[in-house]
Amino acid sequence: MTGIDLSSPVAVVGTGTMGQGIAQVALVAGHPVRLYDAVPGRAREAADAIGARLDRLVVKDRLTGADRDAARARLTSAETLADLADCTLVVEAVLERLDAKQGLFRELEDIVGEDCLLATNTSSLSVTAIGGALRNPGRLVGLHFFNPAPLLPLIEVVSGFATDVTSATRAYETARAWGKTPVACADTPGFIVNRIARPFYAEAFAVYEAQGADPATIDAILRESGGFKMGAFELTDLIGQDVNESVTHSVWRAFFQDARFTPSLAQQRLVEAGRLGRKTGQGWYDYADDADRSEPHTAEPAQPPAYVVAEGDLGPAAELLALIREAGIQVRDDDEDHGTRLVLPGGGQLALADGQTSVEFRDVVYFDLALDYRWATRIALSASQDTTSQTLSEAIGLFQALGKDVSVIGDVPGMIVARTVARIVDLAHDAVAKGVATEEDIDTAMRLGVNYPLGPFEWSRRLGRNWAYALLDDLHLRDPSGRYAPSLALYRHAYATDKREGSTS
Ligand SMILES: NC(=O)c1ccc[n+]([C@@H]2O[C@H](COP(=O)([O-])OP(=O)(O)OC[C@H]3O[C@@H](n4cnc5c(N)ncnc54)[C@H](O)[C@@H]3O)[C@@H](O)[C@H]2O)c1
Repeated sequence: MTGIDLSSPVAVVGTGTMGQGIAQVALVAGHPVRLYDAVPGRAREAADAIGARLDRLVVKDRLTGADRDAARARLTSAETLADLADCTLVVEAVLERLDAKQGLFRELEDIVGEDCLLATNTSSLSVTAIGGALRNPGRLVGLHFFNPAPLLPLIEVVSGFATDVTSATRAYETARAWGKTPVACADTPGFIVNRIARPFYAEAFAVYEAQGADPATIDAILRESGGFKMGAFELTDLIGQDVNESVTHSVWRAFFQDARFTPSLAQQRLVEAGRLGRKTGQGWYDYADDADRSEPHTAEPAQPPAYVVAEGDLGPAAELLALIREAGIQVRDDDEDHGTRLVLPGGGQLALADGQTSVEFRDVVYFDLALDYRWATRIALSASQDTTSQTLSEAIGLFQALGKDVSVIGDVPGMIVARTVARIVDLAHDAVAKGVATEEDIDTAMRLGVNYPLGPFEWSRRLGRNWAYALLDDLHLRDPSGRYAPSLALYRHAYATDKREGSTS
């Protein structure tokens, strides 16, 4: 029992995309719901739109006709804010402007009862700043839904500086009673999801800006090797480049222009050009009916090597050795532990992306991190001008013999999946250390909010404790802008492990 009274009236103010979704959630949970919008007539239109969506649920057998009728009867539109006086919860989903939200809550404070919980669905403003305008900011909480609210289970329950624990608990329990999965988080820029997801977009754009690969190839690698549902380019085309860029800018500004959140120049150009994604017919990709479909770069078939020599431990790529043997390629163990590489018959080396560049070594090909090497259908390789064609060809043939498509990208340190995952892991550790949320809630938020195949901490455990730190440390050395500087939290994590394992070097 949550103690939430599902028969108490709930108000939703602002009845656009999010307001309608939130109202539907509260309505289906059993509440009488009252809609209010500043534009006359819009709340009534929203009630009709919600009614139509309930009809569709009945057609799909997800709601009975009787439940639909009862829900419709509980849904009303209000002419004035004063009509919300008896509501026990008001969820605000008006436009994303601090003055608009502050003004609204100030008015509401004079209308609703003392025990009415006030909630904002802001995605980028500070809950503390919104509450700063209230006589009693303790009753204001962030209830950050994801779009579409009726379908996506995650809600970030955000406590502002002055939010009472009882208000946050009530909001959390309400989300649960509505069948959602709430996670608790502190009021920091981007909350959990919009903070920790930034590198997913930023690193893909950075590889593109560095001429490392084209969008279709990067997207294919993120999907087929990284296990992400969509690549960063196709996903931002879906979200809208303007929307995604504005979140990035707001998080970057809110962190006082911290280099780790630096926006992308290439994305800014796209927005300036009006190429906002699917909604304008063109973004990173062209959506015109007659446009050519962009295909990822895929290497031509190459001869696999007869054998490889395994030097040391391949760390997160250790599973590769079993796959190579299963493909009928001999794996010779080198007793001398020189490092973590495979040596190819021609003498060239194959190494897991580690934050260094291929040009630093005589004849090396890097391969990218995969979520699971058995499952992955594509592997990225990077080579430099110093890599011999024999080494590259043997590396391509080796992965093709394992049944993988191979994409050869430029000499980009940390490649694509490896640098993206390392940075997500780093931001997650940093967020826990700064009291933003628990490890468990961060994992839940990233799996449910942005569909990641693993939560950052699950990924971190799989990769080995100091893998992400070592990679970022190497990247930071090569790009000392601060963008890749590993956090103190990640350093502590790696160092503590080394000590436990008896090696502090
Ligand atoms: N769209 C998303 O994906 C998404 C996701 C999470 C959170 N949010 C947040 O939800 C809020 C609403 O976003 P949206 O996409 O639904 O916007 P929207 O533009 O679709 O709807 C906003 C509605 O608020 C109304 N409105 C504006 N000022 C008002 C006021 N003072 N009082 C009453 N009504 C007012 C408008 O008439 C409009 O109907 C924003 O804070 C946004 O950041 C949006």
